[in-house]
Amino acid sequence: MSSRVRKAVLPVAGLGTRVLPAAKATPKNLLNVVDRPILSYIVEEARAAGVEHFVFVVGRGQGAIEDYFDANPEVEGALEAKAKADVLADVRGDLGPPGEMSFVRQMAPLGLGHAVWCARHVVGNEPFAVILPDMLMTAEPPALAQAVAAYDKVGGNIVVVEPAPKGEAHKYGIVALEAQDGRLNRMTGMVEKPPPGTEPSNLFISGRYILQPDIFGVLETQERGAGGEIQLTDAMAKLLKSQAFHALEYDGTTYDCGDKIGLLRANVAFALRRPELAAAARKAIQALL
Ligand code: G1P
Repeated sequence: MSSRVRKAVLPVAGLGTRVLPAAKATPKNLLNVVDRPILSYIVEEARAAGVEHFVFVVGRGQGAIEDYFDANPEVEGALEAKAKADVLADVRGDLGPPGEMSFVRQMAPLGLGHAVWCARHVVGNEPFAVILPDMLMTAEPPALAQAVAAYDKVGGNIVVVEPAPKGEAHKYGIVALEAQDGRLNRMTGMVEKPPPGTEPSNLFISGRYILQPDIFGVLETQERGAGGEIQLTDAMAKLLKSQAFHALEYDGTTYDCGDKIGLLRANVAFALRRPELAAAARKAIQALL
């Protein structure tokens, strides 16, 4: 069994209810941030953390994700003919080596735990990353690389967390820590969407995980939890009884692109981060205020 994190599972089958109607005919994780789909940034982050194989857990009507990460001879040929080398480099920049990506169907929207379980045959018996692609993160080093560095240090399972905005902890998975000392702490439990006032901490699970393959055995029989869904958090809480889990409070900023305002924030922030666009973006934004 490889102990290196080589594979990442990306559950993308969600309907994108909070960003409808934009996500009606376009998979929500292909929605635009400046000039690239959200998934382009996510895949870049994962590759930077050493991920060599991507397992997308998709739903019906999401073939555009496969097409995005495939060659497009018509577009590329037209750009070549017009000598648009810079655009061509951008278009090809997202393409990895052939065979880098697998796509499995979730078939029914039964929850995040069920989505991860659908990837079991492709992941096999090795530790793997889970990335929630709604959560776009800017960080240096990138968020998943921070998680992998923590994994290399303590092993076991790693859950990336961050402080929840005041009064919003009940919307997320929340972790309980043995003690809070620095950014990497041993966990004693976790709970999905705790009723307000019962949260064991203010740290929420923000969308990057490193898990041992034993989670698949737990998910196999995992019952429905919060919201009637098979929850990854519930399965992790069970596995925590026999394996170590550490919470990593990562150093960076998260944009929830599954939400209208989060997607808007990401567009503004990512435009301001681009050296060739920053000045024009700032001017355009200021003119609107
Ligand atoms: C999922 C996870 C939750 C996590 C959240 C982050 O919830 O179940 O633990 O905190 O993503 O966005 P969902 O947003 O699917 O309800």
